[in-house]
Amino acid sequence: MTKQKKPDPKPKGSLDEMMRQLPYDEFNLPIPERFPEKIMTARAAKAIVHSECWTDANPMLNLSSFVTTFCEPEAREIFADGSFRNFADPDMYPHTKDTEFTCVRWLHDLWNGPKDAEPYGSATIGSSEACMLGGLAHKWNWVEARKKAKKDFSRPNMVTGGNVQIVWKKFLRYFDVEPRIVPLKPGNYRLTAEHLDKYVDENTICVVAIAGQTFTGEDDDIQEIHGWLDKYERKTGISIPMHIDGASGGFVNPFLYPDYKWDFRLPRVQSINASGHKYGLVPPGLGWVVFKDRKVFNENLVFYVNYLGGEAATATLNFSKSSAPILVQYYQFLRLGREGYTRIMRHTLSHAEYLRDRLTKGGRFKIMNATQRIPVVALTLDKSVKKYNEFDISNKVRERGWILAAYSMPPDAQMVNSLRIVVRPHLNRNVAELLADDIERACDFLEKHGGNATPPKLHEAHKASVAKC
Ligand SMILES: Cc1ncc(COP(=O)(O)O)c(C=O)c1O
Repeated sequence: MTKQKKPDPKPKGSLDEMMRQLPYDEFNLPIPERFPEKIMTARAAKAIVHSECWTDANPMLNLSSFVTTFCEPEAREIFADGSFRNFADPDMYPHTKDTEFTCVRWLHDLWNGPKDAEPYGSATIGSSEACMLGGLAHKWNWVEARKKAKKDFSRPNMVTGGNVQIVWKKFLRYFDVEPRIVPLKPGNYRLTAEHLDKYVDENTICVVAIAGQTFTGEDDDIQEIHGWLDKYERKTGISIPMHIDGASGGFVNPFLYPDYKWDFRLPRVQSINASGHKYGLVPPGLGWVVFKDRKVFNENLVFYVNYLGGEAATATLNFSKSSAPILVQYYQFLRLGREGYTRIMRHTLSHAEYLRDRLTKGGRFKIMNATQRIPVVALTLDKSVKKYNEFDISNKVRERGWILAAYSMPPDAQMVNSLRIVVRPHLNRNVAELLADDIERACDFLEKHGGNATPPKLHEAHKASVAKC
Protein backbone atom coordinates (compact mmCIF):
# COMPACT_ATOMS: atom_id res chain seq x y z
CA MET A 1 0.00 0.00 0.00
CA THR A 2 1.39 3.42 -0.96
CA LYS A 3 1.80 5.87 1.85
CA GLN A 4 -0.64 8.78 1.69
CA LYS A 5 0.91 12.26 1.84
CA LYS A 6 -0.29 14.25 4.83
CA PRO A 7 -2.56 17.13 3.76
CA ASP A 8 -1.22 20.64 4.35
CA PRO A 9 -2.50 22.15 7.58
CA LYS A 10 -5.58 24.25 6.89
CA PRO A 11 -4.88 28.00 6.80
CA LYS A 12 -6.57 29.88 9.60
CA GLY A 13 -9.53 32.13 8.88
CA SER A 14 -11.43 32.69 5.65
CA LEU A 15 -9.73 32.89 2.27
CA ASP A 16 -10.30 36.63 2.33
CA GLU A 17 -8.59 36.99 5.70
CA MET A 18 -5.71 34.83 4.53
CA MET A 19 -5.26 36.93 1.40
CA ARG A 20 -5.27 40.15 3.36
CA GLN A 21 -2.60 38.82 5.72
CA LEU A 22 -0.10 38.42 2.89
CA PRO A 23 2.76 40.96 2.97
CA TYR A 24 2.15 44.36 1.34
CA ASP A 25 5.59 44.93 -0.11
CA GLU A 26 4.82 42.49 -2.94
CA PHE A 27 3.63 45.35 -5.12
CA ASN A 28 7.23 46.51 -5.28
CA LEU A 29 8.16 43.43 -7.28
CA PRO A 30 8.65 43.83 -11.04
CA ILE A 31 5.73 42.73 -13.22
CA PRO A 32 6.69 39.23 -14.47
CA GLU A 33 7.26 38.58 -18.18
CA ARG A 34 5.48 35.23 -17.97
CA PHE A 35 2.05 34.43 -16.54
CA PRO A 36 2.25 35.23 -12.77
CA GLU A 37 3.05 32.14 -10.67
CA LYS A 38 2.04 33.30 -7.22
CA ILE A 39 -0.98 34.68 -5.50
CA MET A 40 -0.85 38.28 -4.19
CA THR A 41 -3.10 40.27 -1.89
CA ALA A 42 -6.10 42.07 -3.33
CA ARG A 43 -4.72 45.37 -2.10
CA ALA A 44 -1.34 44.84 -3.71
CA ALA A 45 -2.90 43.85 -7.05
CA LYS A 46 -5.22 46.87 -6.93
CA ALA A 47 -2.35 49.19 -6.07
CA ILE A 48 -0.34 47.94 -9.04
CA VAL A 49 -3.23 48.27 -11.48
CA HIS A 50 -4.13 51.74 -10.22
CA SER A 51 -0.61 53.10 -10.21
CA GLU A 52 0.12 51.73 -13.66
CA CYS A 53 -2.63 53.98 -15.07
CA TRP A 54 -1.66 57.12 -13.15
CA THR A 55 -0.03 58.85 -16.09
CA ASP A 56 -2.80 58.04 -18.55
CA ALA A 57 -4.92 60.97 -19.68
CA ASN A 58 -7.75 62.24 -17.52
CA PRO A 59 -10.84 61.00 -19.45
CA MET A 60 -12.75 64.21 -18.61
CA LEU A 61 -10.10 66.25 -20.44
CA ASN A 62 -9.97 63.87 -23.38
CA LEU A 63 -11.87 65.92 -25.94
CA SER A 64 -10.67 63.83 -28.85
CA SER A 65 -13.26 61.19 -27.99
CA PHE A 66 -17.03 61.06 -28.33
CA VAL A 67 -17.36 58.51 -25.56
CA THR A 68 -19.19 59.35 -22.31
CA THR A 69 -17.01 60.11 -19.30
CA PHE A 70 -19.62 61.19 -16.76
CA CYS A 71 -22.78 59.76 -15.30
CA GLU A 72 -24.76 60.24 -12.11
CA PRO A 73 -24.15 58.10 -8.99
CA GLU A 74 -27.50 56.32 -9.56
CA ALA A 75 -26.35 55.31 -13.05
CA ARG A 76 -23.05 54.07 -11.63
CA GLU A 77 -24.94 51.91 -9.11
CA ILE A 78 -27.05 50.42 -11.88
CA PHE A 79 -23.88 49.81 -13.90
CA ALA A 80 -22.28 47.97 -10.96
CA ASP A 81 -25.44 45.90 -10.32
CA GLY A 82 -25.78 44.92 -13.96
CA SER A 83 -22.18 44.06 -14.64
CA PHE A 84 -22.41 40.39 -13.61
CA ARG A 85 -25.61 39.66 -15.53
CA ASN A 86 -24.76 37.99 -18.79
CA PHE A 87 -27.04 39.61 -21.35
CA ALA A 88 -26.83 36.48 -23.52
CA ASP A 89 -28.90 34.61 -20.93
CA PRO A 90 -32.47 35.92 -21.32
CA ASP A 91 -33.92 32.86 -19.65
CA MET A 92 -32.25 33.81 -16.37
CA TYR A 93 -32.68 37.56 -16.74
CA PRO A 94 -35.92 37.99 -18.70
CA HIS A 95 -36.67 41.43 -17.30
CA THR A 96 -33.18 42.67 -18.11
CA LYS A 97 -33.72 41.40 -21.66
CA ASP A 98 -37.05 43.25 -21.83
CA THR A 99 -35.31 46.57 -21.21
CA GLU A 100 -33.43 46.08 -24.48
CA PHE A 101 -36.65 45.74 -26.43
CA THR A 102 -38.17 48.72 -24.63
CA CYS A 103 -35.15 50.82 -25.62
CA VAL A 104 -35.38 49.57 -29.23
CA ARG A 105 -39.08 50.49 -29.33
CA TRP A 106 -38.36 53.93 -27.89
CA LEU A 107 -35.53 54.52 -30.36
CA HIS A 108 -37.79 53.45 -33.24
CA ASP A 109 -40.25 56.07 -32.00
CA LEU A 110 -37.53 58.71 -31.44
CA TRP A 111 -36.28 58.14 -35.00
CA ASN A 112 -39.83 58.41 -36.35
CA GLY A 113 -40.37 54.78 -37.36
CA PRO A 114 -43.80 54.17 -38.94
CA LYS A 115 -46.51 53.53 -36.35
CA ASP A 116 -47.77 50.41 -38.13
CA ALA A 117 -44.30 48.81 -38.42
CA GLU A 118 -42.91 46.17 -36.07
CA PRO A 119 -39.84 47.74 -34.43
CA TYR A 120 -36.80 45.51 -34.44
CA GLY A 121 -33.21 46.00 -33.38
CA SER A 122 -30.56 45.16 -30.90
CA ALA A 123 -28.18 46.45 -28.28
CA THR A 124 -24.58 45.94 -29.38
CA ILE A 125 -21.12 46.51 -27.95
CA GLY A 126 -20.84 49.79 -29.86
CA SER A 127 -21.76 51.35 -33.17
CA SER A 128 -19.18 49.16 -34.89
CA GLU A 129 -21.11 45.96 -34.18
CA ALA A 130 -24.35 47.80 -34.98
CA CYS A 131 -22.99 48.94 -38.38
CA MET A 132 -21.88 45.39 -39.20
CA LEU A 133 -25.39 44.09 -38.46
CA GLY A 134 -26.97 46.85 -40.55
CA GLY A 135 -24.59 46.13 -43.44
CA LEU A 136 -25.21 42.38 -43.19
CA ALA A 137 -28.98 42.87 -43.30
CA HIS A 138 -28.67 44.87 -46.53
CA LYS A 139 -26.27 42.36 -48.06
CA TRP A 140 -28.66 39.45 -47.32
CA ASN A 141 -31.67 41.32 -48.67
CA TRP A 142 -29.81 42.19 -51.86
CA VAL A 143 -28.56 38.60 -52.36
CA GLU A 144 -32.06 37.20 -51.82
CA ALA A 145 -33.61 39.65 -54.27
CA ARG A 146 -30.94 38.88 -56.88
CA LYS A 147 -31.42 35.12 -56.43
CA LYS A 148 -35.17 35.51 -56.80
CA ALA A 149 -34.67 37.50 -60.01
CA LYS A 150 -32.14 34.85 -61.23
CA LYS A 151 -29.43 37.50 -61.49
CA ASP A 152 -25.74 37.36 -60.62
CA PHE A 153 -25.20 37.94 -56.90
CA SER A 154 -21.43 37.54 -56.73
CA ARG A 155 -20.39 41.21 -56.75
CA PRO A 156 -22.21 43.21 -54.06
CA ASN A 157 -20.95 46.74 -53.44
CA MET A 158 -21.69 49.46 -50.91
CA VAL A 159 -21.53 53.19 -51.62
CA THR A 160 -20.43 55.64 -48.98
CA GLY A 161 -18.21 58.70 -48.46
CA GLY A 162 -14.50 59.00 -47.73
CA ASN A 163 -15.51 60.43 -44.34
CA VAL A 164 -16.77 57.07 -43.01
CA GLN A 165 -15.44 55.74 -39.76
CA ILE A 166 -13.10 52.77 -40.06
CA VAL A 167 -15.86 50.33 -39.12
CA TRP A 168 -17.29 50.51 -42.64
CA LYS A 169 -13.94 49.66 -44.21
CA LYS A 170 -13.78 46.71 -41.82
CA PHE A 171 -17.30 45.65 -42.77
CA LEU A 172 -16.49 45.81 -46.48
CA ARG A 173 -13.39 43.71 -46.13
CA TYR A 174 -14.61 41.25 -43.49
CA PHE A 175 -17.88 40.56 -45.31
CA ASP A 176 -16.59 40.66 -48.85
CA VAL A 177 -18.45 43.65 -50.19
CA GLU A 178 -16.81 45.84 -52.82
CA PRO A 179 -15.98 49.30 -51.44
CA ARG A 180 -17.29 52.20 -53.49
CA ILE A 181 -16.02 55.15 -51.51
CA VAL A 182 -16.62 58.63 -52.87
CA PRO A 183 -13.48 60.70 -52.15
CA LEU A 184 -13.62 64.00 -50.29
CA LYS A 185 -12.14 67.23 -51.52
CA PRO A 186 -10.66 70.20 -49.67
CA GLY A 187 -13.59 72.30 -48.48
CA ASN A 188 -16.15 69.47 -48.78
CA TYR A 189 -15.85 66.76 -46.18
CA ARG A 190 -19.20 65.03 -46.53
CA LEU A 191 -21.02 62.74 -48.91
CA THR A 192 -23.34 64.55 -51.28
CA ALA A 193 -25.21 63.36 -54.38
CA GLU A 194 -22.62 64.99 -56.66
CA HIS A 195 -20.75 61.91 -57.88
CA LEU A 196 -23.17 59.13 -57.06
CA ASP A 197 -23.79 58.35 -60.74
CA LYS A 198 -20.22 57.01 -60.96
CA TYR A 199 -20.61 54.73 -57.94
CA VAL A 200 -24.18 53.41 -57.67
CA ASP A 201 -25.38 50.49 -59.81
CA GLU A 202 -27.56 47.38 -59.67
CA ASN A 203 -25.04 45.67 -57.34
CA THR A 204 -25.25 48.37 -54.66
CA ILE A 205 -26.62 46.77 -51.48
CA CYS A 206 -27.19 50.17 -49.82
CA VAL A 207 -25.86 53.70 -49.52
CA VAL A 208 -24.47 54.52 -46.08
CA ALA A 209 -24.80 58.17 -45.08
CA ILE A 210 -23.63 59.60 -41.78
CA ALA A 211 -25.44 61.73 -39.22
CA GLY A 212 -22.65 63.35 -37.19
CA GLN A 213 -19.47 62.20 -38.88
CA THR A 214 -16.23 61.44 -37.06
CA PHE A 215 -14.01 63.99 -38.80
CA THR A 216 -16.01 67.22 -38.71
CA GLY A 217 -19.23 66.28 -36.94
CA GLU A 218 -21.29 67.18 -40.03
CA ASP A 219 -24.18 65.20 -41.50
CA ASP A 220 -23.86 63.91 -45.03
CA ASP A 221 -26.39 65.48 -47.36
CA ILE A 222 -28.89 62.77 -46.45
CA GLN A 223 -31.93 64.37 -48.12
CA GLU A 224 -30.11 65.18 -51.37
CA ILE A 225 -28.75 61.61 -51.55
CA HIS A 226 -32.26 60.27 -50.89
CA GLY A 227 -33.68 62.47 -53.66
CA TRP A 228 -30.95 61.33 -56.07
CA LEU A 229 -31.76 57.65 -55.33
CA ASP A 230 -35.45 58.36 -56.02
CA LYS A 231 -34.55 59.77 -59.44
CA TYR A 232 -32.22 56.82 -60.06
CA GLU A 233 -35.08 54.41 -59.34
CA ARG A 234 -37.42 56.27 -61.69
CA LYS A 235 -34.75 56.06 -64.41
CA THR A 236 -33.57 52.45 -63.92
CA GLY A 237 -36.22 50.66 -61.83
CA ILE A 238 -33.50 49.85 -59.23
CA SER A 239 -34.47 50.66 -55.66
CA ILE A 240 -31.57 51.15 -53.27
CA PRO A 241 -32.04 51.40 -49.48
CA MET A 242 -30.10 53.67 -47.13
CA HIS A 243 -28.47 52.96 -43.80
CA ILE A 244 -27.82 55.96 -41.57
CA ASP A 245 -24.73 55.82 -39.38
CA GLY A 246 -26.00 57.99 -36.55
CA ALA A 247 -23.22 56.94 -34.13
CA SER A 248 -23.19 60.50 -32.76
CA GLY A 249 -26.04 62.29 -34.55
CA GLY A 250 -28.63 59.67 -33.58
CA PHE A 251 -28.77 61.11 -30.07
CA VAL A 252 -28.47 64.78 -31.06
CA ASN A 253 -30.66 65.36 -34.13
CA PRO A 254 -33.96 64.21 -32.58
CA PHE A 255 -33.57 66.62 -29.66
CA LEU A 256 -32.06 69.69 -31.31
CA TYR A 257 -33.61 69.51 -34.78
CA PRO A 258 -36.92 67.62 -34.48
CA ASP A 259 -38.14 68.90 -37.87
CA TYR A 260 -35.04 67.82 -39.76
CA LYS A 261 -35.76 64.64 -41.73
CA TRP A 262 -32.69 62.40 -41.55
CA ASP A 263 -34.35 59.26 -40.13
CA PHE A 264 -37.15 56.73 -40.80
CA ARG A 265 -39.34 59.54 -42.14
CA LEU A 266 -37.32 59.11 -45.33
CA PRO A 267 -38.70 56.00 -47.06
CA ARG A 268 -35.30 54.65 -48.14
CA VAL A 269 -33.86 54.76 -44.64
CA GLN A 270 -34.28 51.16 -43.53
CA SER A 271 -31.78 50.97 -40.68
CA ILE A 272 -30.02 53.32 -38.26
CA ASN A 273 -27.22 52.79 -35.78
CA ALA A 274 -26.18 54.96 -32.85
CA SER A 275 -23.70 54.72 -30.00
CA GLY A 276 -25.39 54.65 -26.62
CA HIS A 277 -21.95 55.39 -25.20
CA LYS A 278 -21.58 58.67 -27.10
CA TYR A 279 -24.37 61.26 -26.92
CA GLY A 280 -26.64 58.49 -25.56
CA LEU A 281 -24.82 59.30 -22.27
CA VAL A 282 -23.93 55.74 -21.20
CA PRO A 283 -20.41 54.56 -20.18
CA PRO A 284 -18.47 52.65 -22.88
CA GLY A 285 -19.83 49.36 -24.20
CA LEU A 286 -23.13 50.19 -25.90
CA GLY A 287 -24.41 50.67 -29.44
CA TRP A 288 -27.83 50.29 -31.05
CA VAL A 289 -29.05 49.12 -34.40
CA VAL A 290 -32.71 49.67 -35.20
CA PHE A 291 -34.54 48.53 -38.33
CA LYS A 292 -37.54 50.31 -39.75
CA ASP A 293 -39.47 47.03 -39.66
CA ARG A 294 -38.86 43.46 -38.47
CA LYS A 295 -38.76 42.24 -42.05
CA VAL A 296 -35.68 44.33 -42.94
CA PHE A 297 -33.56 42.01 -40.77
CA ASN A 298 -33.53 38.72 -42.64
CA GLU A 299 -34.72 35.79 -40.50
CA ASN A 300 -31.79 33.71 -41.79
CA LEU A 301 -29.44 35.91 -39.76
CA VAL A 302 -31.14 34.86 -36.50
CA PHE A 303 -29.93 31.77 -34.60
CA TYR A 304 -31.74 29.97 -31.80
CA VAL A 305 -29.74 28.36 -28.99
CA ASN A 306 -30.58 26.55 -25.77
CA TYR A 307 -27.16 26.29 -24.13
CA LEU A 308 -28.10 28.46 -21.18
CA GLY A 309 -31.58 27.16 -20.40
CA GLY A 310 -34.66 27.98 -22.47
CA GLU A 311 -34.44 28.74 -26.17
CA ALA A 312 -33.00 32.16 -26.97
CA ALA A 313 -32.68 34.02 -30.25
CA THR A 314 -29.28 35.52 -31.00
CA ALA A 315 -28.48 37.78 -33.92
CA THR A 316 -25.48 39.77 -32.77
CA LEU A 317 -21.81 39.24 -33.58
CA ASN A 318 -20.95 38.88 -29.91
CA PHE A 319 -22.63 36.39 -27.58
CA SER A 320 -21.89 36.99 -23.86
CA LYS A 321 -21.76 40.58 -22.67
CA SER A 322 -22.53 42.66 -19.62
CA SER A 323 -26.07 43.93 -19.11
CA ALA A 324 -24.72 47.02 -17.33
CA PRO A 325 -24.69 49.57 -20.20
CA ILE A 326 -28.13 48.48 -21.43
CA LEU A 327 -29.63 49.01 -17.97
CA VAL A 328 -27.94 52.41 -17.73
CA GLN A 329 -29.39 53.38 -21.12
CA TYR A 330 -32.83 52.40 -19.87
CA TYR A 331 -32.18 54.53 -16.77
CA GLN A 332 -31.06 57.54 -18.85
CA PHE A 333 -34.12 57.34 -21.12
CA LEU A 334 -36.42 57.23 -18.09
CA ARG A 335 -34.49 59.83 -16.12
CA LEU A 336 -34.07 62.40 -18.90
CA GLY A 337 -36.77 61.80 -21.46
CA ARG A 338 -36.99 64.14 -24.43
CA GLU A 339 -37.00 67.12 -22.10
CA GLY A 340 -33.75 66.21 -20.34
CA TYR A 341 -31.84 65.16 -23.45
CA THR A 342 -32.96 68.35 -25.21
CA ARG A 343 -31.76 70.53 -22.34
CA ILE A 344 -28.41 68.75 -22.13
CA MET A 345 -27.83 68.87 -25.90
CA ARG A 346 -28.73 72.59 -26.03
CA HIS A 347 -26.19 73.43 -23.34
CA THR A 348 -23.55 71.25 -24.97
CA LEU A 349 -24.11 72.82 -28.38
CA SER A 350 -23.99 76.32 -26.93
CA HIS A 351 -20.58 75.53 -25.40
CA ALA A 352 -19.35 74.24 -28.77
CA GLU A 353 -20.60 77.44 -30.45
CA TYR A 354 -18.90 79.54 -27.79
CA LEU A 355 -15.58 77.74 -28.36
CA ARG A 356 -15.88 77.93 -32.14
CA ASP A 357 -16.72 81.66 -32.14
CA ARG A 358 -13.99 82.51 -29.68
CA LEU A 359 -11.29 80.56 -31.52
CA THR A 360 -12.21 81.81 -35.00
CA LYS A 361 -12.60 85.44 -33.91
CA GLY A 362 -8.85 86.13 -33.97
CA GLY A 363 -8.47 84.96 -37.59
CA ARG A 364 -6.08 82.11 -36.81
CA PHE A 365 -8.59 79.34 -37.42
CA LYS A 366 -11.12 78.53 -40.12
CA ILE A 367 -14.25 76.46 -39.47
CA MET A 368 -14.31 73.13 -41.29
CA ASN A 369 -17.88 72.21 -40.43
CA ALA A 370 -20.11 75.00 -41.64
CA THR A 371 -23.03 72.51 -41.70
CA GLN A 372 -22.30 71.29 -38.18
CA ARG A 373 -25.18 69.85 -36.14
CA ILE A 374 -23.56 67.90 -33.29
CA PRO A 375 -21.42 69.74 -30.70
CA VAL A 376 -18.08 69.31 -32.44
CA VAL A 377 -15.64 72.12 -33.22
CA ALA A 378 -13.53 71.23 -36.27
CA LEU A 379 -10.93 73.84 -37.14
CA THR A 380 -8.06 74.18 -39.54
CA LEU A 381 -5.37 76.84 -39.33
CA ASP A 382 -5.63 79.80 -41.66
CA LYS A 383 -3.05 79.86 -44.47
CA SER A 384 -1.48 82.96 -42.89
CA VAL A 385 -0.24 80.82 -39.97
CA LYS A 386 3.18 79.58 -41.09
CA LYS A 387 5.18 78.87 -37.95
CA TYR A 388 3.23 75.95 -36.52
CA ASN A 389 0.51 73.47 -37.36
CA GLU A 390 -2.51 71.79 -35.78
CA PHE A 391 -0.35 68.97 -34.38
CA ASP A 392 1.82 71.54 -32.54
CA ILE A 393 -1.26 73.00 -30.87
CA SER A 394 -2.49 69.56 -29.84
CA ASN A 395 0.97 68.78 -28.36
CA LYS A 396 1.21 72.12 -26.57
CA VAL A 397 -2.22 72.00 -24.86
CA ARG A 398 -1.36 68.48 -23.69
CA GLU A 399 0.97 70.19 -21.20
CA ARG A 400 -2.18 71.56 -19.56
CA GLY A 401 -3.88 68.15 -19.58
CA TRP A 402 -6.17 68.65 -22.62
CA ILE A 403 -6.36 66.00 -25.32
CA LEU A 404 -7.43 67.45 -28.67
CA ALA A 405 -7.36 65.37 -31.84
CA ALA A 406 -5.17 66.66 -34.67
CA TYR A 407 -5.26 64.65 -37.90
CA SER A 408 -5.00 64.89 -41.64
CA MET A 409 -8.26 64.42 -43.50
CA PRO A 410 -9.03 61.27 -45.57
CA PRO A 411 -8.39 61.13 -49.36
CA ASP A 412 -8.62 63.32 -51.46
CA ALA A 413 -8.45 66.04 -48.81
CA GLN A 414 -5.39 64.65 -47.03
CA MET A 415 -3.48 67.92 -47.44
CA VAL A 416 -5.88 69.55 -44.94
CA ASN A 417 -5.17 69.15 -41.22
CA SER A 418 -7.85 69.40 -38.60
CA LEU A 419 -7.91 70.24 -34.91
CA ARG A 420 -11.08 68.77 -33.46
CA ILE A 421 -12.76 69.38 -30.11
CA VAL A 422 -15.60 67.02 -29.20
CA VAL A 423 -17.72 68.98 -26.74
CA ARG A 424 -19.44 66.59 -24.38
CA PRO A 425 -22.15 67.34 -21.80
CA HIS A 426 -19.82 67.30 -18.79
CA LEU A 427 -18.05 70.48 -20.00
CA ASN A 428 -19.58 73.57 -18.43
CA ARG A 429 -19.06 77.13 -19.66
CA ASN A 430 -16.28 77.74 -17.17
CA VAL A 431 -14.30 74.75 -18.48
CA ALA A 432 -14.96 75.82 -22.08
CA GLU A 433 -13.46 79.22 -21.24
CA LEU A 434 -10.41 77.63 -19.61
CA LEU A 435 -9.88 75.51 -22.71
CA ALA A 436 -10.19 78.50 -25.06
CA ASP A 437 -7.66 80.41 -22.92
CA ASP A 438 -5.22 77.50 -23.07
CA ILE A 439 -5.56 77.09 -26.84
CA GLU A 440 -4.98 80.81 -27.39
CA ARG A 441 -2.00 80.76 -25.03
CA ALA A 442 -0.56 77.76 -26.88
CA CYS A 443 -0.90 79.61 -30.22
CA ASP A 444 0.79 82.73 -28.78
CA PHE A 445 3.70 80.60 -27.58
CA LEU A 446 4.02 78.79 -30.92
CA GLU A 447 3.82 82.08 -32.81
CA LYS A 448 6.87 83.24 -30.85
CA HIS A 449 8.91 80.05 -30.72
CA GLY A 450 7.65 78.11 -33.73
CA GLY A 451 6.54 74.48 -33.77
CA ASN A 452 8.15 71.35 -35.16
CA ALA A 453 5.44 68.69 -35.19
CA THR A 454 5.05 66.58 -38.28
CA PRO A 455 1.80 64.71 -38.97
CA PRO A 456 2.24 61.11 -37.75
CA LYS A 457 3.05 58.80 -40.65
CA LEU A 458 0.32 56.34 -41.57
CA HIS A 459 1.20 52.74 -40.79
CA GLU A 460 2.05 50.91 -44.06
CA ALA A 461 -0.82 48.45 -43.62
CA HIS A 462 -3.18 51.36 -42.96
CA LYS A 463 -1.99 53.17 -46.11
CA ALA A 464 -2.71 50.01 -48.06
CA SER A 465 -6.18 49.75 -46.57
CA VAL A 466 -6.94 53.40 -47.37
CA ALA A 467 -5.70 52.85 -50.92
CA LYS A 468 -7.76 49.67 -51.29
CA CYS A 469 -10.93 51.28 -50.06
C1 LIG B 1 -19.69 57.90 -37.53
C2 LIG B 1 -19.17 56.76 -36.70
N1 LIG B 1 -19.54 55.51 -36.99
C3 LIG B 1 -19.14 54.45 -36.25
C4 LIG B 1 -18.28 54.63 -35.18
C5 LIG B 1 -17.86 53.43 -34.37
O1 LIG B 1 -18.49 53.53 -33.14
P1 LIG B 1 -18.12 52.70 -31.84
O2 LIG B 1 -16.87 53.32 -31.32
O3 LIG B 1 -19.30 52.93 -30.95
O4 LIG B 1 -17.95 51.29 -32.22
C6 LIG B 1 -17.86 55.92 -34.84
C7 LIG B 1 -16.95 56.13 -33.71
O5 LIG B 1 -16.45 57.20 -33.46
C8 LIG B 1 -18.32 57.02 -35.61
O6 LIG B 1 -17.96 58.28 -35.32
